[in-house]
Amino acid sequence: MPDVYATINDADPVLVSRIAEVLELRAADPQQQAMRRAYLDDIDFPDGAEVIEVGCGTGAVARELARRPGVATVTGIDPSPTFLAAARDLDPPANCTFVEGDARALGFPAGSVDVVVFHTTLCHVPGPELALDEAARVLRPGGWLAVFDGDYVTTTVATGPADPLQACAQGFVNSSVHDPWLVRRLPGMLGRAGFELVSMRSFGYVETGGARYMPTIVERGADALVAAGGLGPEAAAALKAETRRRVATGEFFGHIAYASLVARLGV
Ligand SMILES: C[S@@+](CC[C@H](N)C(=O)[O-])C[C@H]1O[C@@H](n2cnc3c(N)ncnc32)[C@H](O)[C@@H]1O
Repeated sequence: MPDVYATINDADPVLVSRIAEVLELRAADPQQQAMRRAYLDDIDFPDGAEVIEVGCGTGAVARELARRPGVATVTGIDPSPTFLAAARDLDPPANCTFVEGDARALGFPAGSVDVVVFHTTLCHVPGPELALDEAARVLRPGGWLAVFDGDYVTTTVATGPADPLQACAQGFVNSSVHDPWLVRRLPGMLGRAGFELVSMRSFGYVETGGARYMPTIVERGADALVAAGGLGPEAAAALKAETRRRVATGEFFGHIAYASLVARLGV
């Protein structure tokens, strides 16, 4: 199953609209907000900083970056015109603009920006080394790079051995993450692209009763299994109903480990 994000412009428009909603839902989650604050605080934004968010989706992280002290401009870049239209409709600050583009060819002059952020984007890019080389090209010497991503091999909704909901979580990872192992190789990849690591952090994201984000992972994973012919629609409906039951009774459990790396371009 190809990663839907890596092939976003070929995806079913209904799914793309659903993902747009989920991106905003996830961004508003207090745990997700705290993780973003923690790693963005590791960046010493220079006064008048020009910032790029690569793979901005509906622009939640770009909007937050635009409101940080010292930040002059933020450009959100994404290959999806649908996400970009949603981003422009969400009332971004005046210093925040959105343009169509690809991580591997950003379209910015060499040495022209201060900070490049990949927030849950790099794991979706085939050829992440090319994207890191491109970030190094557009950054000024000493410029800042931040990569935040899921360590998606840890994605779990199982509450015991052979929990059938876990097949949906795996279906989500298989259909929505190009490289679920990526963060484990990032320290070496950053060094090879000319970056010096400033910080690497690990975050545990957990949802239980009242969960809102991780149930969407089960749903989307179930739909992906049906689309791939590995699960019938009735079984998928039953697994979604079981997820809703666990959420309603407080029995739901979902966990993903995330990691952030903040680095500077060597001078
Ligand atoms: C999980 S979303 C993250 C969106 C946003 N950063 C956030 O956290 O809300 C991944 C984004 O990467 C974008 N993407 C996929 N392939 C890309 C590529 N080659 N270059 C840049 N962005 C890409 C997708 O369109 C999608 O918006």
